[in-house]
Parts: sequence; structure tokens; C-alpha cells
Amino acid sequence: MRLAVVGVGAVGASVVELAGEYGHEVVAVADSTGGAVDDSGLYADAVFDRKRTEGTVGDADPESVFDADYDVLVEATPTTLGDAEPGFSHVRRALADDRHVVLANKGPVAERYDELRTLEAESAGTVLFEATVGGAIPVLSTIADLNGQVTAARGILNGTANFILSRMAAEGLGYEHVLAEAQDLGVAEADPTFDVEGTDAALKCVILSNVLYEDSYTLADAEVEGIADLPGSALELAAEDGRTIRLVGEVSPDGVRVGPRLVAENGTLAVSGTLNIVQLETTHAGRLNISGRGAGGPETASAVLADIGRLPDTV
Ligand code: HSE
Repeated sequence: MRLAVVGVGAVGASVVELAGEYGHEVVAVADSTGGAVDDSGLYADAVFDRKRTEGTVGDADPESVFDADYDVLVEATPTTLGDAEPGFSHVRRALADDRHVVLANKGPVAERYDELRTLEAESAGTVLFEATVGGAIPVLSTIADLNGQVTAARGILNGTANFILSRMAAEGLGYEHVLAEAQDLGVAEADPTFDVEGTDAALKCVILSNVLYEDSYTLADAEVEGIADLPGSALELAAEDGRTIRLVGEVSPDGVRVGPRLVAENGTLAVSGTLNIVQLETTHAGRLNISGRGAGGPETASAVLADIGRLPDTV
């Protein structure tokens, strides 16, 4: 496939870097200030050199990527709330041109799901968004494979919050110190309040709800509490009782809830570090647990590239 990649943060950059290994060609790249287009294929190293030395991927107008000869738009700009812009307009433009869209950006799927599906229905292109929930974990494709059998979901869906809680509990370290570590690791969002206030986990739960129940939920429909105000003493108290605290997201026909919950210290939900886990309740197969790396450039890019592999060959 010929890819146009918009957004060159950790995930977009990894898609550009790894695309060739998956047999794809990157023909256009844009960041917030510039763009580069070459219908005969761009070299990842040249794109990154330019970004490092000049602060942008190229001189062209970022919008020029839409004039490239591409098959799939990879939308990897930062998640924004409300109107989900500029990501939503990028998606609209690509679908209007009958191109496929693969999203790493959660905004359009969580905040404008109905419109996204309507635009997809009017287009010859297909929209996929595995990377928006659980990073590398194949959550949405598993739900699709189970063909309507999944009735509810819950899990640990924010690597940064999980890293903070597990480091604070294991090492007795302070909140600010551990948050800075998570930022150094490159797993925290551009705006880490998204992680620690539960917004990022809630967006993922809203996406799960939209997919599971064909809802058109948005963040405004979710009940959300984060970990920013959780005192270290709460973790110590939980430990006295063989338990710990995790930021748990819950998705059921009754709604979407995210908040700190007590879980068994050695239980399934007590994954450590940046790991995520998703538990799917099914009609005939009981509970399925899927765990893995929920954040990180190459990890999340692997979900984008898996989606690209699932797309129909032609539009
Ligand atoms: N900041 C997110 C996390 C990245 O920590 O899980 C993946 O959405």
C-alpha cells in the first residue's frame, strides 16, 4: 500500500520507519508545520534528518499530502477533544477522495463516531482504528473476530497511569517523580493530564462502547475519575490488605466508567509498568484476557500496520 502519514510523533514516526518491512511505501508525510511528498517513495532517514535539523519534515504545505498518489491515510496527529480537529478534517478529506483511513488518533473515533461511520459509508474507503485502544494489543480485531459475542469489557487501558501506580506502590516513589519517568519513556500523551485524569482511558472505553454496542457515545457520556489526586498512603493501605490500586475502565450496556479501583495485588488486573490488559466478557466463551504493551511508538505502530494489512487491496 502507498501511505500518507499525517502526524510524526512517536507513533507516526514509527509507522514511517517500519512501513517498508511490511511491504508498504510512504509517499507523503506531514507534521504540523510542513509536508513532504514523493510519489516514487520517501526515505525514512531523510524525513527524520530533516525533522531533526530543521524542525519539520519538509517545505511543502502540510495539506499537500492529500494531493499525493496514496492508498491509505495514516492519521497520527495528537488526540483532541470536542470537534477532534484537525484529525477529523484529515479523515473527511481522505474518505471524500475514496481513500482508506487508519487512525492512531482517538479523537475522531471517540468524539465523532456517528459522523465517521456516515462518511465511511459514503466513501469507497474503509476506516480502521485498532491502534486507538490498547496500543499493540489486538482488542478491536478480536472483538470483530468474535462476531457479536462480546457483551462487555473492562481493563487497564492507560500505560502511563499504570506505570505511575505500579512504580509508586513498588518503590514508594512520589507521583511527580514517576510521572516525569513516564514522560521520559515516551508513553505519556503530549498533554499528560489526559493520562493521569483518566481522559485517555475513558476515550478508549468510549471507542470500545461505540464498537460493541454501535453507540455514538462521546467522552461527555463517560463517568471519569483519574489518579492525579490519589495519595501515596492509599497505596500503602491497600498493600496492608494484599491489594493495590489500578485505573480501571469498564464498558457495559449500562455505560462507561473509569476510575481508581482496588484490585488483588497478584490478580489478573494488577499488570505492572506500561502494560495494558483487556478482559472481554463473551456469550459462549466466558472471559478472555488479552494483555500487552498498550503504549509506545513501535508497539502502537504495529497495530496501525496490522490494520493496513487488513484493508481491501483496492478502493
Ligand atoms: N498515553 C497513552 C498511555 C498512550 O499511556 O497509555 C497510548 O494511548
